[in-house]
Amino acid sequence: MTSEEIQGPTELDSWAPVRIDTSVAHPARMYDFYLGGKDNFPADREAAERIIAMGADVREGARTNRAFLGRAVRYLSAQGVSQFLDIGTGIPSAGNTHEIAQSVDPAARVVYVDNDPIVLAHARALMGGHGKGATTVVQADLRDPAAILADPRVRAALDFDRPIALMLVAVLHFITEEDGPDRIIKTLGDALPGGSYLVVSHGTGDGVAERKRPGLDEAVDVYRNRSTAALSLRGKARIAEFFADFPLVEPGLVPGQDWRPDAETPPATMVTVYGGVGRKP
Ligand SMILES: C[S@@+](CC[C@H](N)C(=O)[O-])C[C@H]1O[C@@H](n2cnc3c(N)ncnc32)[C@H](O)[C@@H]1O
Repeated sequence: MTSEEIQGPTELDSWAPVRIDTSVAHPARMYDFYLGGKDNFPADREAAERIIAMGADVREGARTNRAFLGRAVRYLSAQGVSQFLDIGTGIPSAGNTHEIAQSVDPAARVVYVDNDPIVLAHARALMGGHGKGATTVVQADLRDPAAILADPRVRAALDFDRPIALMLVAVLHFITEEDGPDRIIKTLGDALPGGSYLVVSHGTGDGVAERKRPGLDEAVDVYRNRSTAALSLRGKARIAEFFADFPLVEPGLVPGQDWRPDAETPPATMVTVYGGVGRKP
């Protein structure tokens, strides 16, 4: 295995090298590449370039998705939400959840959870930011939601008696049907009090023209065969089921670019992700 040691925290308070496997493409680093970041390695770039060469509009999708995340956090902050459980954090990029939330409410608390150690390596950047709010980074897997809920760092950072925004932004498409995405969301959602929110964005092939279908199928194969996580693109109806316990707020589940767009929303030519926000009654 090709690997690099990067300084980062393995626990909140103890700093130790984080071992990064650079021989296999990782979705977090491929996404970083799509967004124009520098935290990626040859294996990530090779897999990402293959996908781009197939005509998949992943760069546009990544920009659309990232902008959706920002607008959703701003919306939630405006609703008075000050606690965020952001699972599938990704490598820090412009407009991280804690930066937006703490710019609105300096006391906002954000817990980041990702299963890729590279995100931990960037924890210092994630924990920085402005405001007096607390930002916590935990390495854990969405497929084990009970472990996330039981983690003492999560419990210490978030008050489960007050509304929490559960952010599953561009991560559920790395959860296969066999992994049970409905069970995962139910376990997490059941732990949250009324007035909590669910934010989901999800990659889709719905908007892909018939002539581009083979390219899309090949792109899915690249994730399956060359990266650490298989890609499960889903259609709108299936993604809507994830909001079973969180009735959607306006405008519902829509192409990411159409969710409460503002002057900063990047132009988009097609549907690459659906985005929605639901509120637990
Ligand atoms: C496409 S990035 C999304 C980053 C950020 N949420 C955003 O939308 O800008 C997906 C992230 O999900 C993480 N991820 C994938 N599968 C995961 C799992 N089973 N548990 C936790 N994180 C996971 C990846 O490591 C990556 O950082």
